Amino acid sequence: MAQAHCQKPGAHVALNPRPRQIHASGPLRGRVAVPGDKSISHRALMLSALAVGESRIEGLLEGEDVLATAAAMRAMGATITRGDDGIWTVHGVGVGGLMQPATALDMGNSGTSTRLLMGLVASHDITVTFIGDASLTSRPMARVIDPLSQMGADITASPGGRLPLMVRGLNPAVPITYTLPVASAQVKSAILLAGLNTPGTTRVIEPVATRDHSERMLAGFGADLTVEQTPEGRVISLVGEAELKPQQIVVPGDPSSAAFLVVAATIVPGSDVVVANVGLNPTRAGIFTALRMMGADITELDPRTVGGEPVADLRVRHAKLTAIEVPADLAPSMIDEYPILFVAAACATGTTVARGAHELRVKESDRIAAMAAALGEIGVRTEEYDDGLAIHGSGGAGLPGGGTIATKLDHRIAMSLSVAALVSDRPVEIDDASPIATSYPIFFASLDALRGTNDVAAA
Ligand code: S3P
Repeated sequence: MAQAHCQKPGAHVALNPRPRQIHASGPLRGRVAVPGDKSISHRALMLSALAVGESRIEGLLEGEDVLATAAAMRAMGATITRGDDGIWTVHGVGVGGLMQPATALDMGNSGTSTRLLMGLVASHDITVTFIGDASLTSRPMARVIDPLSQMGADITASPGGRLPLMVRGLNPAVPITYTLPVASAQVKSAILLAGLNTPGTTRVIEPVATRDHSERMLAGFGADLTVEQTPEGRVISLVGEAELKPQQIVVPGDPSSAAFLVVAATIVPGSDVVVANVGLNPTRAGIFTALRMMGADITELDPRTVGGEPVADLRVRHAKLTAIEVPADLAPSMIDEYPILFVAAACATGTTVARGAHELRVKESDRIAAMAAALGEIGVRTEEYDDGLAIHGSGGAGLPGGGTIATKLDHRIAMSLSVAALVSDRPVEIDDASPIATSYPIFFASLDALRGTNDVAAA
């Protein structure tokens, strides 16, 4: 649970860590479906909570990050329930209808909940304090504080523009035109969500395209939103004050979660699996492009549209990988997948170089430093750059393994090294597997299903 995490800023350890030892695996076989997309799940809850009437959400990711969003929307007036059939029902309060929460909102480990909700609060006449765990408390919030302050919100943050912070919203807020200084879907979304309850046209210009789930879903809920491609970049214009209509939403599977299973099947000799229900929105699917460039054997089966997003089942067979220079322009579409790409690179022939990914330094952990240390711990040589990593691959041989991995309250470090363990000569100890519950609570069950065993033993 998020509350179990230590609150001491910068400590990056949990109060109740759950260590786990993972052993090497024989071939992975069979079929598993990945749970709902985290980004889409957050947005589905938020927009449903702002529509007037009843929305229903199928396939919602029931991870801690998304549950933090649900709790926050409840605290601000929405009625949100889960049926026994797994379908979530949301009765929204209407744009402009968010209510003053009685206590601070605990965002746990979730940067997306924090930044997007700061946007929602910014244009409502309420005052909200945001708190989080040690990882979230160390992450920069100035990137949203700046534009939301321009819109009129009064934000008091802890030193360095960090949590805990308080947002005093302004209603009516002031519409702005804002060019994103960092490629960030969270910043884009925060501004657009603030724009929902702001009279006039709020514009975001993104020189580099980032995941477009907010735009797709806002349009789906009936917001007056247009997207134009200009020489300056993508211009997204939203007219407030919007009226959102309740929807029936089906959340597709999360490509970021699928990536762990796809790499696992690629690197474990003899594997042949189907990872079903994978969202393949082009703004998210960069990891599959990069893996294919390395020689991965990934086939798309049954391509279809789910909830307005492209989806397919991925058949993945073991393949020998060759090192690549990861194109920097893939970064926005695979920003969360670098840790698992580094594991694939550790098994490739040659040295993979990934640069142009400076944002990795400010994710749930500093993912460049955390992965360099973690790979070093299991005997993989790397060189660290300010904006990336070079990884010397094993040429397909097993990795040495052993060691204890410092996961730094970062779910993706924990899952990446669990996958590396599958091809390691000695078992790998993860210091804390509990953060995995933020995004992929059934990760080990999925892995066990493909192993045909359940010998991914808890230490
Ligand atoms: C997310 C956007 C990305 C990503 C995060 C989820 C989103 O962050 O890393 O896991 O749902 O909008 P940035 O927009 O900060 O790059």
